[in-house]
Amino acid sequence: MKPVIVVHGGAGRIFKDREDGCRSGVTRAALKGYGILKHGGSALDAVEEAVVVMEEDPHFNAGCGSVLNEKGEVEMDAIIMDGKNLASGAVSAVKCIANPIKLARLVMEKTDHMLLTDQGASAFARGMGVPEVPGEKLITGRSLERWKKNLEADSNPQQFQKDLGTVGAVAIDSAGNVACATSTGGLTNKRVGRVGDTACIGSGGYADNNVGATSTTGHGESIMKVVLARLILYHMEQGKSPGDAADSALDCMKTRVGGLGGVIVISNSGDWAARCSTQEMSWATVKDDQLHYGIHAGEWHTQPAEEAISSLGC
Ligand code: GLY
Repeated sequence: MKPVIVVHGGAGRIFKDREDGCRSGVTRAALKGYGILKHGGSALDAVEEAVVVMEEDPHFNAGCGSVLNEKGEVEMDAIIMDGKNLASGAVSAVKCIANPIKLARLVMEKTDHMLLTDQGASAFARGMGVPEVPGEKLITGRSLERWKKNLEADSNPQQFQKDLGTVGAVAIDSAGNVACATSTGGLTNKRVGRVGDTACIGSGGYADNNVGATSTTGHGESIMKVVLARLILYHMEQGKSPGDAADSALDCMKTRVGGLGGVIVISNSGDWAARCSTQEMSWATVKDDQLHYGIHAGEWHTQPAEEAISSLGC
């Protein structure tokens, strides 16, 4: 099997000032994951490391750069899933962790559970030797400004929900195994303790070697209502291509519950799609040593992966 990776940096409105940062962030992430796959690494390692790149990039709403809850704190959700055995690990409402996706993987591999939350997740992280970072280190000037604006009496938080991006990755490795990973800071000014779609298996992501893998982004409550990730794989089981399955599921979410979002999908034969019902979604993929990426509808750049690695210095 030829390895393939697809990543997203979130669906919504991506304003001009963030475009270059988002393009460069998703391409770096896709190239990192592809490098792992090319050296015989697993799909699971590739999606985890690709998401780590975006968690450490302040352009995205995950890890450093996460939006703030109503109390001005970063509270993050993440999930990872292995299509080989349907093993999955997730964390929700975690604070003071640089890479929630790594903690999600530890939940998958070191516990008999699938989801740890809040203080239990923090205690588990300490037990696993995961370093705590001061909460302020995850807060960017931009998230702080948003949070403060939303506290103003005449604010419209909905306006700021539109250009913030959950991150995710899906991949297939040379052994034919698929995996997904998704990580987010959630919604701006959300209630303390709000858990979104990202941490919920079948909503924020799903991976099954029998079909493929998907990672989602968008309005979490809507995504959970239609169980978006699993719905896409259901459509693929019924014979749809990844692109058609993604379009059908996003259309269902829009018409049934009025929700918008975006998805990346890979099939167990290496076909892939990146689709959104929002105005924009940053995405990138590497297949056959060619990097492809874009943000706007119809935007499609192609570059040899080696050339992109040299020009980005990664
Ligand atoms: N899709 C991210 C969230 O709503 O939390």
